[in-house]
Amino acid sequence: MPAIVIDGKAVSLKIREEVKQRAAALGERGIAPCLAVVLLGENPASLSYVTAKEKALTEAGMKSRDIRLSAGAAETELLSLIAELNADKTVHGILVQLPLPAHINTDRIISAIDPAKDVDGFHPVSVGNMVLGRPGFLPCTPHGVVFLLKELKIPLSGAHAVVVGRSNIVGVPLANLLVRRDVNATVTICHTGTRDLSRHTLEADILIAAAGSPALIKPEMVKPGAVVIDVGVNRVPDSAKEKGYRLCGDVDPAAAENAGYITPVPGGVGPMTIAMLLQNVVQAAEVYNYE
Ligand code: GUN
Repeated sequence: MPAIVIDGKAVSLKIREEVKQRAAALGERGIAPCLAVVLLGENPASLSYVTAKEKALTEAGMKSRDIRLSAGAAETELLSLIAELNADKTVHGILVQLPLPAHINTDRIISAIDPAKDVDGFHPVSVGNMVLGRPGFLPCTPHGVVFLLKELKIPLSGAHAVVVGRSNIVGVPLANLLVRRDVNATVTICHTGTRDLSRHTLEADILIAAAGSPALIKPEMVKPGAVVIDVGVNRVPDSAKEKGYRLCGDVDPAAAENAGYITPVPGGVGPMTIAMLLQNVVQAAEVYNYE
């Protein structure tokens, strides 16, 4: 039987409605939640993500401050900008779109953001709080995946979750969230150094593909009935398409024949990432120290 397709968009809309109400409540106190969105250069994928984030903020009744710098901007310029945004009491969150150009030290930039405004959850303080299970901002894509699994009432406690990919943005934080007591999964992380990837993926009750490799997960790598979450958003050249490319996940769509549940690309995890970002921004504005 083909898999049930998980509608991430539908779940995300519910969250966005809640965020809108929270933002309106802040509005009544004279607070306009605001996210500064910083983009360097014109990477087409980054540009489309940033545009989607800004549109979602507006729809939730929040503000975005769009800051565009050239791809050649100096690291010192970016650090000064972050210092300004940290000090600005009308800015509640700061998002620097990744990846940054190679001449910029990403760790240094992320570490310069005030953790109170780190709505991406990438700052070492946020990562530390997440690993220790303390309050703080959770990274949007991993949080979105866990939220989606919980919302769909997928049995997670004691389940074997296999995460393919070890990025700081998705794989590593996601594995951390899945292993926490509130989720209680048993977690395996696979990566480019893993021997015999299929041996691991076939054991997964929940298989999460976050490797950034188009159609890496083939149908024969999926245990029948497994829940398959596809985090990949790859642009694959396709001359038949007007844009010259098509979006392809990390999972071969034919895997839907084996899976019990599967997320589509687009329309699965992507909308959840944006919803979680909105939630972090409204939370940042709610707890901000306005003294
Ligand atoms: N690049 C890819 N995903 C993300 C994200 O969630 N946040 C930022 N800032 N950059 C990204």
